[in-house]
Amino acid sequence: MKILLTGASGLVGSAFARLASASGHEVFGVVGRWSEIVFGVTGLLARDLSDPAQAQALVQGIHPACIINAAAISEPAACEADPARSQQVNVDFPVALAVVAAQARVRLIHLSSEQVFDGESAPYRPGDAVRPLNLYGRQKAEAEARVLAADKHAAVVRLPLLFGNSLTGRRSVHEKFFELWAAGKTAGLFVDERRQVCSAASVAAMLLALAARRDLHGIFHWAGAESVSRHEMGQAICRQFGVDEKWIRAQRRAELPEFAAKRPRDLSLDCAPLDRELGLPREKFAEAITQLVRPAWARELEL
Ligand SMILES: NC(=O)c1ccc[n+]([C@@H]2O[C@H](COP(=O)([O-])OP(=O)(O)OC[C@H]3O[C@@H](n4cnc5c(N)ncnc54)[C@H](OP(=O)(O)O)[C@@H]3O)[C@@H](O)[C@H]2O)c1
Repeated sequence: MKILLTGASGLVGSAFARLASASGHEVFGVVGRWSEIVFGVTGLLARDLSDPAQAQALVQGIHPACIINAAAISEPAACEADPARSQQVNVDFPVALAVVAAQARVRLIHLSSEQVFDGESAPYRPGDAVRPLNLYGRQKAEAEARVLAADKHAAVVRLPLLFGNSLTGRRSVHEKFFELWAAGKTAGLFVDERRQVCSAASVAAMLLALAARRDLHGIFHWAGAESVSRHEMGQAICRQFGVDEKWIRAQRRAELPEFAAKRPRDLSLDCAPLDRELGLPREKFAEAITQLVRPAWARELEL
């Protein structure tokens, strides 16, 4: 199948490109600022997706059978730092893509986030009311509703906090820990904030299965088999790399009330509909965390 993949240089996109090409698909990957190789991509296109007109140009130029929209300004702090640009990338572009996908009758899978919920009534089912606490969550919630209004055959998948090995070596949770550790800093991690984490590789496998199921549309959840606290995740990462746990600090949300106010407390997700439809095993945290490798830049510094 010919697949148009936006966000090909990102944590999810790069994992998907590798898996899809190994499974015999032809992947046309769109990146923003990334200028190096993306493994598995047949054609690599650098485009600024803050311009929604790129949606039509890409679909008309490539004629894909399926579009995976994994491009986003995906960190809440980056959205707060540039609300206008993040609105363009996180909302305006996906909506434009949905309009074009509906006109061209191309399968569209758009990625969303657990952050559409407030974290006070987990586990969340796909049909539960959204109540985002931060700008990123509001943008993702707006995009979900408008993508589905523009293309009723689209599938929107909400994802949890992800881990994996990124192309930059600086994107995912453990890579950010190494950046802190390289600067001689410890990582402060909440013991009372829970996420049903999963790996980008697990998301890639789900997306490949979902791409083949054009009958599945609407909102879905995908996550790992269990939820963990941020601190438990940090402990597992320390164990994986033989790092002393003195490099992580257990914190409680009440110690940082202003910071915690914009962070949902528990974002466990009910993934039953996608489990039932795809029949894929959901990932066990303790096994999946062993996929993580020390980033190349940290190996060079002998960290
Ligand atoms: N990572 C998580 O923990 C997580 C959790 C829940 C949901 N999600 C969602 O899952 C999806 C994939 O996330 P991710 O973690 O893979 O994201 P990521 O690693 O931050 O990558 C973002 C991708 O979007 C591209 N991009 C951003 N702005 C762009 C622009 N103006 N023009 C062109 N490309 C642009 C980036 O390209 P360049 O780097 O080349 O500029 C990169 O390929 C997103 O929808 C995100 O909201 C992620």
